[in-house]
Amino acid sequence: MNNSAIGIFDSGVGGLTVVKELKRILPHENLVYFGDTGRVPYGTRSRQTIIDYAKQDLSFLKSKEIKMAIAACGTVSAVLPNEIIDELPFPYTGVLLPAVQTACSKTISGHIGVLGTSATIRSGAYGKAIRTILPNARITGIPCPLFVPLVENGYVQRDNQVTRLVAQDYLKQVLGSDIDTLILGCTHFPLLKAIIGDIVGPDVRLIDPGRETARFAASVLTSEGLLNTQEERGSYSFFVSDSPESFTESANLFLGDPVNGHVEQILL
Ligand code: DGL
Repeated sequence: MNNSAIGIFDSGVGGLTVVKELKRILPHENLVYFGDTGRVPYGTRSRQTIIDYAKQDLSFLKSKEIKMAIAACGTVSAVLPNEIIDELPFPYTGVLLPAVQTACSKTISGHIGVLGTSATIRSGAYGKAIRTILPNARITGIPCPLFVPLVENGYVQRDNQVTRLVAQDYLKQVLGSDIDTLILGCTHFPLLKAIIGDIVGPDVRLIDPGRETARFAASVLTSEGLLNTQEERGSYSFFVSDSPESFTESANLFLGDPVNGHVEQILL
């Protein structure tokens, strides 16, 4: 069981920002990634459609005999109901809880911002989870639907004026407020850290879902006695529901490295 892979899924390539951190923090783990590139984006869809897609993604990962599942997608993390999670035969985490726990432990002003897809912000799930830990927290949720296509198209450089204008517009409601913590509630958004950081300034801490989720997964595997004890580096397999070539081309940007593993197209 300990040699089984961690299964990670997302609507497309965004979840690779979680894989990047998993490779860094848990270098001996085998990873199986599924990117639903044929049906991306999830963040503009209805709750029920997102749940149906996530169930299919999870059953594909189950067929790979994984030891843990990670929804490396803010949107799925926000809408997947507990009834589905409770039935899974392995530990599960989304990106929501790890990011929320860190945000709550770091905020001093108690005012936390959440950036996410439209479906994520509409769900109110981040706010609900924050208030479970900090009942008096003030939460500002900002839907940022244009960020996903901008990132997918590589508009991520710090001096990109298109992305900067869009980000300034989304963030204007928190500028000058007492917000001190901003959760990047979508796995595409770590690529925009430099632009977002420039706009909100150094006094606002940005919470990276990839980093927090990889740390959280490490603690779950440790406490469940499921860490892989092999000496060699883990192996990586990638599955997609659309062209492997276009996945491989854009993956580099998200992983920070070329895809180092097998990429295969599957039919769900
Ligand atoms: N990576 C997804 C998330 O974290 C965003 C992309 C999408 O809309 O499917 O929400």
